[in-house]
Amino acid sequence: MKCVLTLTVAVALALTSLSGPTAADAVRGKKNFKRCKACHSLTEGKKLTGPSLYKIYGRKAATMPKFRYSKGLKQAAEKGLVWNRENLMGYLKHPKKFLQKYLGQKRVSNKMINKYKKEKFRKDVVDYLESVSK
Ligand code: HEC
Repeated sequence: MKCVLTLTVAVALALTSLSGPTAADAVRGKKNFKRCKACHSLTEGKKLTGPSLYKIYGRKAATMPKFRYSKGLKQAAEKGLVWNRENLMGYLKHPKKFLQKYLGQKRVSNKMINKYKKEKFRKDVVDYLESVSK
């Protein structure tokens, strides 16, 4: 009996982790996004130090008109970089390293110098960006 119970709990846990972002994650992500707001708006066409992140989730990289992106990010966009979950998680962790890996070269230019090491922080921000990109 105990065994069945353990199994039920395990399945339930697995299902929760598979069910994608919850509203609570997105709420936390909205708070986390305050740290991005110094440089990013979510308003279409409104650039700050960084480009607008309007509908960024699922969008091709470096597509905001009139923003002067780094050559590195433009090259990655030419190679087909799209801001899905995996790429956002990698980029936010270490933008430059992400571009180096994506482009397969050591010398890359990059304009976003902030790094966000904490996986949970990044995950919640990405959940939030996904939720506002629909
Ligand atoms: C100090 C300013 C600054 C902060 C803070 C910052 N960024 Fe950026 N970000 C930039 C700049 C500048 C670029 C342009 C990068 C380039 O051209 O290489 C950029 C680019 C991006 C891009 C690519 C946009 C595109 O159009 O392809 C994403 C996604 C992004 N930032 C997300 C975030 C998130 C999420 C946070 C907060 C967790 C954040 N940034 C914090 C300055 C910042």
